[in-house]
Amino acid sequence: MLARSVIFCAWLLGCQGADIFVSPTGGSTEIGSLESPFGSIQKAVDTAQPGDIIFLRGGTYVPSVNIQITKKGTSSARFTIRPYESEKAIIDGENMPGTPSAVGESLANTNRGIFHIQNAAYWQFFDLELKNGPYGIYNRDASNNHFERLVTHDNYETGFQLEGASSNNVVLYLDSYRNRDPRKNGESADGFACKEGSGTGNVLRGARLWDNVDDGLDLWQFGSPVTIEDTIAWGNGVNRWGFSPFEGDGNGFKLGGGSADKLVAGNHIVRNCIAFSNLKKGFIDNGNPGALTIERNTAWDNGDQGFVFKSSKSVLKNNIAAVNGGSSQVSIAGAATSSCNSWNIGGTWNNATFKSVDDPVVKGPRDTGGEIQGSNFLLPTSGTAIGATTL
Ligand SMILES: *[C@@H]1O[C@H](CO)[C@@H](O)[C@H](O)[C@H]1NC(C)=O
Repeated sequence: MLARSVIFCAWLLGCQGADIFVSPTGGSTEIGSLESPFGSIQKAVDTAQPGDIIFLRGGTYVPSVNIQITKKGTSSARFTIRPYESEKAIIDGENMPGTPSAVGESLANTNRGIFHIQNAAYWQFFDLELKNGPYGIYNRDASNNHFERLVTHDNYETGFQLEGASSNNVVLYLDSYRNRDPRKNGESADGFACKEGSGTGNVLRGARLWDNVDDGLDLWQFGSPVTIEDTIAWGNGVNRWGFSPFEGDGNGFKLGGGSADKLVAGNHIVRNCIAFSNLKKGFIDNGNPGALTIERNTAWDNGDQGFVFKSSKSVLKNNIAAVNGGSSQVSIAGAATSSCNSWNIGGTWNNATFKSVDDPVVKGPRDTGGEIQGSNFLLPTSGTAIGATTL
């Protein structure tokens, strides 16, 4: 078969892996080359060997079942899926099972995710848009994967979910928005979630999580440290779909939780993150009994309190809570400790305390590498090194 001989030649020439091509206009008799691309992403995945790159030609893919990823690469021979050159590849999951399931129905594990990644390792995904799926990315019991500049939106469950025994997964520059779960009336579709599992070394950096039905971010029954940096969550928890009864929670960053008998300690690290204009709270430990590190974050203009840490042994330092609703800006109790935060420093913290309370730059285009563009948004006029910065 030509595709395999291409791989073999590449190997003889000392190259790492082969290039495999897929196009929305490819057919079922094609061989996966640039001139004769596969029509099916699953076929490319099934054909790929460690070290191969699967290039998706531009356009919208509408597979009728989700894509199963189960192979393991190695640190020196990773699998890669990315668009070809600067083309734009969109995968629309609307034809997949579970889009949506009926109210109250469960969604079979195997049907979760436009990409269902399970017992797989060393996969890399770049620059893909995943919409209308039964979850966007669903990574379960899968480690050492890398996800960069993905957009997951309008999925019928969480946009990006890590679950189970999953370690060393790195998620950079994710945009995850307007995800919702009609089958649960908004109870569980978040922008990004780590749920029911454990595993070290998982990182979310530079994400934007907005207008999701439940929380921006949710670390529910995930009993290992997750590092969350440079991430912004806004507009979550608003019932934009007319669900009734509405079950969305509406926190920016929900950093724990679970049923009473299954609460686990996750010593998560949250640095340089912003929660603004969420329906409820900015940052909350939500029953997590762990020791979280909460540093240089800003909660502004949320409907309820900015920081709520009453269950954990968290250390909160150099954070800002301002212009939030609720009876007080923060609620810190039990074994949690705070120092050098806006509420420790005291004085006035209102809109005039900031250089800018206008958000178009943080909501606007990212820079070419994928980072959120820098602005004066929510920087204290005092110049004090406190709260989050996009600069
Ligand atoms: C603070 O600024 C935001 C954004 O302009 C505005 O919506 C809000 O009403 C302001 N709050 C106060 C108390 O002035």
